[in-house]
Amino acid sequence: SSEPMPFLPLYRHNKGWCCSLMPMVGAVVADARFAARPSDIIIATLPKSGTTWIKALLYATVNRREHPADAADHPFNSIGPHDCVKFLEYQLYTNNSVPDLDRLPDPRLFATHVPFTSLPSAAAASGCKVVYVCRDPKDNLVSLWHFANKFRAREGQEPMSAETIAEVFCRGVSPFGPYWDHVLGYWDAHVARPEQVLFFRYEEMKLDAAVHVRRLAEFVGLQFSAEEEEGGVVEAIVRLCSFDHMIGLEATKGGKTELVVGTVANSSFFRRGQVGDWENHLSPETARRIDAITEARFKGSGLCS
Ligand code: A3P
Repeated sequence: SSEPMPFLPLYRHNKGWCCSLMPMVGAVVADARFAARPSDIIIATLPKSGTTWIKALLYATVNRREHPADAADHPFNSIGPHDCVKFLEYQLYTNNSVPDLDRLPDPRLFATHVPFTSLPSAAAASGCKVVYVCRDPKDNLVSLWHFANKFRAREGQEPMSAETIAEVFCRGVSPFGPYWDHVLGYWDAHVARPEQVLFFRYEEMKLDAAVHVRRLAEFVGLQFSAEEEEGGVVEAIVRLCSFDHMIGLEATKGGKTELVVGTVANSSFFRRGQVGDWENHLSPETARRIDAITEARFKGSGLCS
């Protein structure tokens, strides 16, 4: 009876309608074949919570010696962050293919949207590092709504109203499971094993990205040296990966990313990049409803809404 998310097939998970089949097929294949290394770093997010940004920050941080952030020929000028750090389920384990990931140099960088409990067990067991980003559910929803409507327009479908998608979202119908379960899954993993799972909030990153770039570097064992600090390397990475800079790059304006769900213009990963845009789109009742669910679901977890 509920309207499924418009761009991915859904199936029933333990807590309501959940992940699309594709990621799960990806996860199953990955489970059988994915030989994770302790040095691997996996970005985990819900769609529209800042994946593109954290991919850019991680890639730029890890590769800063080979590709200084202020170099005119930085890879971001020609390829987007989604091709620098690929999704396991959308780009690597797709259409029954098993990619050869053995040749990739350490540390290998991957990304996923699947919930923590659905991560390939090889990944969790390997001790590899996981970087999670969560975002205010109201902004996450509004961002998802705009993105979904772009897909609908491409398919010749009518746009969905914000209130319709909010209803679906509150019922837990979303491509990778209910928002709250996704966030709590990674939060609990972070609390249990902070050295393995790092937890970021989009809003905090917006306040002071440099602090979080340092956290990221330390977490992956690539702390900035005193010399790098003095040379402004952290700030250069923040500038390189900032919304205002990335939205103007050729790789964003003209580039595309091949995902198993279709080809996506890199520009569609950039919209406003602000905190609180939900106020422009959601009714006060809807906002209160989401806040109430968040408060109830996060209660006692140590995660404040
Ligand atoms: P908005 O739709 O609110 O603007 P994802 O990368 O997970 O698909 O998330 C996309 C959201 O992150 C979009 O949010 C997009 O504008 C924002 N975003 C993309 N790149 C960003 C950056 N470098 N800094 C901040 N926000 C960014």
